[in-house]
Amino acid sequence: MGLSKKILVIPGDGIGAEVTTWGKAVLEKIAAVYGHTFTYDEALMGHVAIEATGSPLPDETLTKAKASDAILFGAVGHAKYDNDPTAKVRPEQGLLGIRKALGLYANLRPIVLFDELLDASSLKPEVLKGTDILFFRELTGDVYFGEKKRSEDRNTGSDLMIYHRYEVERIARKAYEAARLRSHRLCSVDKANVLETSRLWREVVQEIAKEYPDVETEHMFVDNAAMQLVKNPKKFDVVLTANLFGDILTDEASQIAGSMGMLASASIGDGTGFFEPIHGSAHDIAGQDKANPLASILSVALMLEISFGLKDEARKITEAIDKTLKAGYRTGDIADSKTEKDKILGTTAMGEKVLEFL
Ligand code: IPM
Ligand code: MG
Repeated sequence: MGLSKKILVIPGDGIGAEVTTWGKAVLEKIAAVYGHTFTYDEALMGHVAIEATGSPLPDETLTKAKASDAILFGAVGHAKYDNDPTAKVRPEQGLLGIRKALGLYANLRPIVLFDELLDASSLKPEVLKGTDILFFRELTGDVYFGEKKRSEDRNTGSDLMIYHRYEVERIARKAYEAARLRSHRLCSVDKANVLETSRLWREVVQEIAKEYPDVETEHMFVDNAAMQLVKNPKKFDVVLTANLFGDILTDEASQIAGSMGMLASASIGDGTGFFEPIHGSAHDIAGQDKANPLASILSVALMLEISFGLKDEARKITEAIDKTLKAGYRTGDIADSKTEKDKILGTTAMGEKVLEFL
C-alpha cells in the first residue's frame, strides 16, 4: 500500500528554485509509479523571505515545517550580504534558525562517487575510485551557535565555540549506528591538541565507542584529516565531526564526487527531516538554466530512504542518475574538459533526462 506524506518545499534563493523543481518532479514521478500520495506546500526562507516579510525565517515557514513529514530545501544566500559584513539580517540566519528550531542536530553528507564522473574531479581517478564516505556533521552547536560579540569600539569580535556533552553523545550514537550498517569503521575528527571543545568531544566519543565494540574507532586532527581526504580518501568510511569542521571538510570532499553539484545531504534530529544539496545559492548562474539538479534529486532519494523508509524508490533514483551519466549527459560543472564526448545540458534538460530514465 502506498504512503501518504506531506512535503514542504522551501526553494530559497539563487538556483534553489531551479534545482528543487527537479527534486519535486522526481518525487511526483515516484509517487505515480509506486502509488504513494505526496502533497506539497511551499514556504519562504533566506533573501526572498527578507524581501517579502523582513525576516529570513518567517513564523509561517516554521509552522509549515513543523506540520510536514519532510522538507525539501534549495539554498540560501545573496552576494549583497556577502559583501556587507555589517548587515544585521542575513539570509543564512534562516537556515541556521530552522536547523535549531527543528532540532536537526545530525547532518548526513554521503560522498558517493559515480564512476562516470571520475574524470570530472580535479583529483586523480586512481586516488578516487572506490571512495564511499558518510559524514556525520554536528549541526546545532559549535561556534555557529555560541555567543557572538563585538566590542563597543567595534575593534574586537568573538564567537564562542561551545559544546555540551549531550550534543556530542547524540550525534556520536547516530554515527556509530550507521557505522554498524557499513564497514564498521568510524573516524572522529577534532582538534583536541588545541581546543577544549575538542577534548570534550574526544572524551565523549571514547566513551560512546565502548558501547560499540564491533566498530573500529580512529581519532584524527582536522588538519590531518583535510590532508588525508585528498591524499587517500578511500581510507575513510564514517566520519564524525563538529559543525564548523564538517562544513569545511564536506566542501573539500565534494571534489571527490566531481562537483558540489553532486552532493546531497540529510539533516535529521528527533522530528521532521530536512533534505538539501550541500551547494549554495550560486547567484552567478541563477536563472540561466545552468545549475546541476542532481544534488537536489539525490536529496530526494535520501528523503525517501531516511524519512519514509522507501529504499527501493531511493535506489531507483540513484540508478536513473547513473544511467543518465552513463549515457554521457552532463551539466557544465561535471563535464570533462579533456574530452568532447560529454553531452552538456542545462538544468531543465538534465532533469528531464533523469525523469526519462526513471
Ligand atoms: C552548508 C552551508 C551553510 C553552513 C551556510 C549557508 C550557513 O555552507 O550547509 O554547508 O555553513 O552550514
Ligand atoms: Mg557549507
